[in-house]
Amino acid sequence: MGWGLRNRLSRIFRPSDGRTLMLAIDHGYFLGPIKGLEDPKKTITPLLPHVDAVMLTRGVLRNCFDPSMQQSVVLRVSGGNTIDGPVLGDEEIVTSIDDAIRLNASALAFSIYVGTEYEHQTLKSLAKLVDMGERYGIPVLAVTAVGRELEKRTTRYIALACRVAAELGAHFIKTYYTDDFEKVVNSTPVPLVIAGGPKMEREEDVLRLAYDAIRAGALGLDFGRNVFQSGNPLGMIRALNRIVHEGATPEEVADELNLKVKV
Ligand code: 5RP
Repeated sequence: MGWGLRNRLSRIFRPSDGRTLMLAIDHGYFLGPIKGLEDPKKTITPLLPHVDAVMLTRGVLRNCFDPSMQQSVVLRVSGGNTIDGPVLGDEEIVTSIDDAIRLNASALAFSIYVGTEYEHQTLKSLAKLVDMGERYGIPVLAVTAVGRELEKRTTRYIALACRVAAELGAHFIKTYYTDDFEKVVNSTPVPLVIAGGPKMEREEDVLRLAYDAIRAGALGLDFGRNVFQSGNPLGMIRALNRIVHEGATPEEVADELNLKVKV
């Protein structure tokens, strides 16, 4: 791994503990203006000091954030479909490596749709992106997407998708937490960060998911809706930061940050 690539990874995974708290706000690329992200600048700016990296598209980055921001950018470079289209998964690379470099991206994010008719297309694009990333020293984050089929998130499926992404050269992977997550960690030779998934009713369940995932070997979180759609986004991101970087328990962060939850 070259110097530039390692340097960019170190802006995402904090060198002091090797972990990362990312904030996913890329949803608009196929969902449009979802609740909490109608005005990304307003909702997200107060949360930035508590995260290591933000995952977003070039359009939101350019138009909603100040170039002096210190958090690293994980640039969503896949797209080309919407929730109103015939099917999710028909994605391609929609942002050039030149633009990613201009935006000083620390990583490129691309979704793969294992087990769908778009498996081949998205896996090939992932491999192509890795080749480009290696050429210019930019790491690639593979996202194991399931579209509307949330029930697909079994240990077997997640282990398959993560291993395939790593074999194709992804430098780190965003995936879902499952039971037996240690098995996924042990069979995937690159770091894993966890998606939050659809908004959960109970905030204590979000904290528990975060804690269990880190304890099982995930090296970070990349939650979106469970942060910016929370009743208390600032409290939630601070709580997640402490779970990731201080090893705090859900009980500790619920009390200290007054999240009004009983764990
Ligand atoms: C879809 C994605 C999302 O756009 C997003 O990053 C998911 O984050 P969350 O599930 O925590 O809201 O990656 O596959």
